[in-house]
Amino acid sequence: MAAFPPPIENPEIKYTKLFINNEWVDSVSGKTFPTVNPCTEEKICDVQEGDKADVNKAVAAAKKAFRLGSEWRKMDASKRGRLLNKLADLIERDVQYLTSLETLDNGKPYLAAYFGDLDFTIKIYRHFAGWADKIQGKVIPIDGEYFCHTRHEPVGVCGAIIPWNFPLAMQAFKLGPALACGNTVVLKSSEKTPLSALYVASLIKEAGFPPGVVNVISGYGPTAGAAIAEHMDIDKVAFTGSTQVGKMIMQTAAKSNLKRVTLELGGKNPVIVFADADLDAAVETAHFAGFLNMGQVCLAGSRVYVQDSIYDEFVKKCVERAKRRTLGSPWQPTTEQGPQVDRIQFDKILGCIEEGKKSGAKLMCGGNRWGDKGYYIEPTVFADVDQNSSIAREEIFGPVQSIMKFKTIEEAIEKANDTKYGLGASVMTNDLDTAMRMSSGLKAGTVWINTHHILSPAAPFGGFQMSGQGRELGEYGIRHYTEVKTVTMKISEKNS
Ligand code: NAI
Ligand code: MG
Repeated sequence: MAAFPPPIENPEIKYTKLFINNEWVDSVSGKTFPTVNPCTEEKICDVQEGDKADVNKAVAAAKKAFRLGSEWRKMDASKRGRLLNKLADLIERDVQYLTSLETLDNGKPYLAAYFGDLDFTIKIYRHFAGWADKIQGKVIPIDGEYFCHTRHEPVGVCGAIIPWNFPLAMQAFKLGPALACGNTVVLKSSEKTPLSALYVASLIKEAGFPPGVVNVISGYGPTAGAAIAEHMDIDKVAFTGSTQVGKMIMQTAAKSNLKRVTLELGGKNPVIVFADADLDAAVETAHFAGFLNMGQVCLAGSRVYVQDSIYDEFVKKCVERAKRRTLGSPWQPTTEQGPQVDRIQFDKILGCIEEGKKSGAKLMCGGNRWGDKGYYIEPTVFADVDQNSSIAREEIFGPVQSIMKFKTIEEAIEKANDTKYGLGASVMTNDLDTAMRMSSGLKAGTVWINTHHILSPAAPFGGFQMSGQGRELGEYGIRHYTEVKTVTMKISEKNS
């Protein structure tokens, strides 16, 4: 394993206020809320609680920063790229601290956060830094004596509402393209993990972004989040979270000012294992697909379909692997699984497991709380799961693998597509024709062959059906942060 800096188990909490117009301010209401360490169930600290009044202030700052003639609007595109690269440099400089802060607030294992979240976050900012001076329109040969071209302009003030499962990467998913294209942003972090977004805000200021370009509000969904969705001066909202809230955001956007909406929502992602696959590799991939980040991943491979001839052996090996999974302190480098993010998620997952037991599925291992402190749940494997039961249909967002059987490729496609979602899907096979037939037949925004969870800042990510609207990352993601303007100029003949 590559070298990594040791964790700081008691990172100092430097920022708990709201970040508006490059200043640290208290909430208008004076309210605060606690953020909790999911390992100890104890409060880490109180942070300022933003709501509608604070969102209004942040939007006013973002609107001012976006005014024609402002420092930000006049800034060279290449300079925007340099600022984004500077931000990436600062995150890299403070990577040990930021990783530690994330582990403290979220509970995710330090090592996984270091090689996963932080590495990805830095790469995302660098990727979009490179885009800043490459956002180009076209010259279009329309009929007549005209010069016609398109300008890809920033949309304006962008609202961003992000979840808690990968707080730093989710912040980068929104800020990277928004800033590369020259927008300004009001971002609301998740009430479950507010700390790392605030520290990044301090780095944004240090990097030299002008006041008002990025504003970060800590607060709850129905108050601060809803205020973003309904704001008349926000031109676009980018949301990642549950399908239920995603629907509300879209409705609110429609009822207010028809702001542009992109949504990254839930998933119930199939992992389809054919008999010709390399069995041990497929078991490990399915395990990684289902249990990464305590199962708290929109792309979690939570439905595993296994071809009948290898089904029994596959289930046995999955159970052995799940039992070997190491739970414990997220500060230890050997820990694969930490606690769930909070009491609400912990209770929800245990409720889903009870539903699974009642549905008649075979509980092969796990199913209970692990330990007596912290929101830990045992790695849980269900076999012989009914396709119509809730554990096969609903997003659990926990360490729960549901295994089912199929016979033919047609049946695999039909069962995999029998869902309201369509975010990711993976196929384990060594047969090229199977791989090609599956990748064209599956309803999913991302299809992996013999792997799972591989994302890149350069490759588009998003969902079919109720997994969302639009795409994030790469060139496809950039499109959602620009408005296209057509400029047509008449060319008159001069009598000379
Ligand atoms: P959530 O959808 O409530 O929260 C995501 C973000 O939306 C948070 O910042 C939250 O404050 C905000 N929000 C909540 N209600 C809002 C509203 N009315 N208006 C505007 N913003 C609002 O998800 P939550 O409660 O954190 O988790 C519940 C379930 O959602 C999970 O069990 C999981 O199934 C799913 N989820 C999916 C995620 C994904 O990556 N697709 C991420 C987080 C949760
Ligand atoms: Mg927390």
